[in-house]
Amino acid sequence: MMNQEDLFKNIISHSKEYGFIFQSSEIYDGLSAVYDYGQMGAELKKNLRDFWWKSMVQMHQNIVGIDSAIFMHPTTWKASGHVDAFNDPLIDNKDSKKRYRADVLIEEHVSKIRAKADKEVEKAAKRFGETFDETMYRQTNPRVLEYNAKADEIESRFKAALEENQLDEVRQIIIDCEIVCPISGTKNWTEVRQFNLMFSTQMGSLSDDANTIYLRPETAQGIFVNFLNVQKTGRMKIPFGIAQTGKAFRNEIVARQFIFRMREFEQMEMQFFVRPGTEMTWYNYWKNTRMKWHRALGFGDKKHKFHDHLKLAHYANAAADIEFDFPFGFKELEGIHSRTDFDLKKHEEFSGKKLQYFDPEINESYVPYVVETSIGLDRLFLAIMSEAYKEETLADGSSRVVMKFPFALAPIKAAILPLVNKDGLPEKAEEIVNLLKFDHNVATEAKDAIGKRYRRHDAIGTPYCITVDYETMETNTVTLRNRDTMEQERVNIEDLKNILNNTVSLSSLLEKSAGLSE
Ligand code: GAP
Repeated sequence: MMNQEDLFKNIISHSKEYGFIFQSSEIYDGLSAVYDYGQMGAELKKNLRDFWWKSMVQMHQNIVGIDSAIFMHPTTWKASGHVDAFNDPLIDNKDSKKRYRADVLIEEHVSKIRAKADKEVEKAAKRFGETFDETMYRQTNPRVLEYNAKADEIESRFKAALEENQLDEVRQIIIDCEIVCPISGTKNWTEVRQFNLMFSTQMGSLSDDANTIYLRPETAQGIFVNFLNVQKTGRMKIPFGIAQTGKAFRNEIVARQFIFRMREFEQMEMQFFVRPGTEMTWYNYWKNTRMKWHRALGFGDKKHKFHDHLKLAHYANAAADIEFDFPFGFKELEGIHSRTDFDLKKHEEFSGKKLQYFDPEINESYVPYVVETSIGLDRLFLAIMSEAYKEETLADGSSRVVMKFPFALAPIKAAILPLVNKDGLPEKAEEIVNLLKFDHNVATEAKDAIGKRYRRHDAIGTPYCITVDYETMETNTVTLRNRDTMEQERVNIEDLKNILNNTVSLSSLLEKSAGLSE
C-alpha cells in the first residue's frame, strides 16, 4: 500500500505527464505558487466550473450569475476591511530562517493534542469491544478530559489574543506550548507580525498614490457592489443569490502543497441575500446543500467533514469549512459564511449610496443579510485528482494508472480508436467523432497498439474507449470498453449517442446532488 506522501508525489508527476498541470513559466524555472492548466486540466477545470455553475444558477430559480471585473475601485477594499484586516500573523524561526503562519502553528499543535485524546478513545474501543460507550468514555476518562481541556485552553487563549490583536500574546502561546520549527527543531522564534495579503498595482500614470489599485483577493466584493444593479434589473425578490466564478489573488507567504495554496487562483462564490434574522436558517440550509453537492461526487461519506470556525473572519458571525481528506490530511475545501450585513453596510458608508431592499411582504426597507458559499476551484480540482488517482494491478499481473473521475467530469468522454490505421478504419472512426462531437468532447487516436492506447486513456480518465475493427465495416458495430470495469461490449454505432448522453452528461450529477437519484 502506497503511503500518502508517495501518493501525493505521484499525483503531482502524473498531473504534469498527462497535461493536467504545469508549473507556471517552467522554462524560467517557474514562479512560486503559480500554476498553468494544460490541455487535460483545462477541460477538467471547465467541467468542474460548469457543474458548480449549473448547480447554483440553473438549478435555483432565485440565483443568477454575473462576471465582474478583477480590478475594482480601491475604496472597495477599504470598505470591505481588506486593507486593514486581511492579514496573516507571521513568525520566523531564526535558525532555519523559515517563515510560518502563527495561527497554523498553534492550530496544528491543538490538533495533535486532540488526536492524543482520540487515540485513547480508539484504544479503549478496542479493549471493551461491543460494550464500549464512546460518549460516556469521553465524558469521564481522566486522560481524555485532560487532553481536551488543554486543547480548549490553548484555543480560547489564542482566540482572545487574535480578537485583541495582541501579537505578543500569540508569540507567548507558541513559546508556552513549546512549539518547535519542523525544520530546525528549535524554539528560536522572532516576534509575530501582521502581513497584508493583497497584491497592488498602478492604474494609469505612475507614481501617483491615488492610482494604486488591488487585484481582488475574493470575487465576493464584485457581487456586493452590484447587489442593487442585479436586484433591480433582474427584479429579484429576497431571498435570492448572485453567483460568480473568477480569478482571485493573494500574496500567500506560506505557499505550499501544489495547487492547494496558490497566489493566483479561481473562486466560485455565491452570495445569498436574506431577510435579517433568517440568516442562521439559511446558513444551515447552505451548509447542508453544499455538503450534499460534494457527496454527489461519489467519494463516500468519510471524505468530507465540517469544521466550525473558532476564529471568525472580520465580516462573519458564523462560519464553517467543508474539509476534504487530501493526501496531506483534512483541509479546507469550501467555506460557508454568515456575513451579516457587514459588507453592504460598509459599502453604503463608504460610497454614500443606499444599498437597501424594499421587502413588500413586510412593507419595510432594510440592508439584507448575506450567507456566502465560497469554494476554490483549484482546491476542488486537487480533491478530484487525489480521489480519482488509482494504481491498479490487473489479473494478468500488469499494472495501470487510472483516473476514476466521475464520468461527467472527465476531460475526454470517449476515445474512438481504429484498430489499425488503414483499410478505411480511421475514416470510420472520424465518422463516429463527427456523430458524437456535437454533444461531447471526444478524441480519436490511431498511433500505437490498442492496449497502449487503452492505458493512455485510462491515465487521463476517459470513461469509454470505442474501438473500430474489421467487424465494424461489416456490421456497423463497435466495441465499447468501460474504463473502470475494463469490460467490452459490442454495440451499434447508432446507439452510441444515447449511451453517452445517459452516462457522461452533467445532468446525472446534477440530479444526484439535488438528491433525485443515487
Ligand atoms: N469570500 C470568502 C473567501 O474568500 P476564504 O475562506 O478566504 O473565503 C474561500 O476563501 C475559498 O477559496 C477557500 O475555501 C479555498 O477553497 C479557496 N482559496 C482561498 N485561498 C486560496 C489559495 N491561496 N489558493 C487556492 N485556493 C484558495
